[in-house]
Amino acid sequence: MAQARPAGASWANYENIMKLQAAHFIDAQRLWERHMHMAKYGATPAGGVDRQALSAEDIQAQKVLLGWGSELELVPARDAAGNLFLRLPGLEPGAAPVMTGSHMDSQPTGGKFDGIYGVLAGLEALQAIRAAGIVPRRSIELVAWMNEEGSRFAPGMMGSSVFSGSSTLDSILSIKDSRGISVQEGLEKVQAAFPLVPLWPLQRPVHAYVEAHIEQGPILESESYSIGVVSGIQGKRTFSVSLQGEEAHAGTSRRCDRKDALMAALQVVQALSALCNDDQDIVKFTVGRFQVKPNAPSVVPSLVEFSIDLRHPDSSVLQSLGDQVELLCAQNAGPCKATVRELSNAISLQFPQSMRTLISEVAQTQSISCMDILSSAGHDARYMHPICASGMIFIPCAGGISHNEAESANASDMANGAKVLVETLLQLAA
Ligand code: GLV
Ligand code: MN
Ligand code: MN
Repeated sequence: MAQARPAGASWANYENIMKLQAAHFIDAQRLWERHMHMAKYGATPAGGVDRQALSAEDIQAQKVLLGWGSELELVPARDAAGNLFLRLPGLEPGAAPVMTGSHMDSQPTGGKFDGIYGVLAGLEALQAIRAAGIVPRRSIELVAWMNEEGSRFAPGMMGSSVFSGSSTLDSILSIKDSRGISVQEGLEKVQAAFPLVPLWPLQRPVHAYVEAHIEQGPILESESYSIGVVSGIQGKRTFSVSLQGEEAHAGTSRRCDRKDALMAALQVVQALSALCNDDQDIVKFTVGRFQVKPNAPSVVPSLVEFSIDLRHPDSSVLQSLGDQVELLCAQNAGPCKATVRELSNAISLQFPQSMRTLISEVAQTQSISCMDILSSAGHDARYMHPICASGMIFIPCAGGISHNEAESANASDMANGAKVLVETLLQLAA
């Protein structure tokens, strides 16, 4: 039911009353407890989370989310890219919705907050809107994007890139995980688990997108701010490199005859690392995955495959560094054959000023401290940015630690993020 305007109240005042009512219903304890509950699906012995995209743990977590959504009478839906939606219907069902959310998958040694915070803060926002009895003009949808991390299937942000039309569904279906299971097989499992949840089309119009996330860095905590208004996301290119050599006996083969893929890989990585080693520590170069075959103590390695994650806030620097990767690999591979495959190339982006201003005004109205901040990590908001007004809200995380089982955040910052989120969503959906 739409709320009636109180007699005598101006629309401006009425909107303010509505906003405050919604923020008032954000429940820090419930938000915290939901994080602890979700962390059970994929819990690691060291207190972290390993919840890979389209895995059994992911399906369990989605079931729980659907259950919470059903208690709030949210309308569930999926799409062909494995994204999950929960809609709070607005007064004008035909109007493009406002969306909020993030991802539920994690790194193999991930924490309890990366991604899932944006999903649960979004759910908390919808619950607060329900509790306040508000029906916005536009529908507001919570989304859990498929495979943001890219740790099971590379590259990451698959669900949001297909939803937004930056990639095609066909281009992701045949991508396989390290056990040879394809995205298509994973999607079929998820679809079989939720036969009653209707399939909505990809590339639906969206009015605006706001993603809440932990900062994953140390700035907000060290500067004592509760909220970061994200100005943009730094650019990132990812590659997969393979060095093909030849197996040989570790005791009998002569050095001059060897095609040792590991020795070649070490030279290549050293050359790339030297290229990316800037005095200001702005270039971020990471080889996070490194696989040696046959990985036997007495066999000269025949194949090494490794990943490159390269980031820089200046797109021209990022392009120039990334463009040198293939040549450097070839030049340093010795007797082995280097093959370089670029998996993704995303330039730096800036969120619209109007969205940033809205988020900071909403924070200031509630006396929640905020500062502008650039996101050094990647997020699904990157792919929503080209199709609708997008923005992000950061909250601090302890010690800036993330992609680590020790990742943590505090309940009052988490609630502040949800308070800013709910008011921002309501303004966008008005
Ligand atoms: C996202 O998880 C990233 O690695 O930036
Ligand atoms: Mn994330
Ligand atoms: Mn992450």
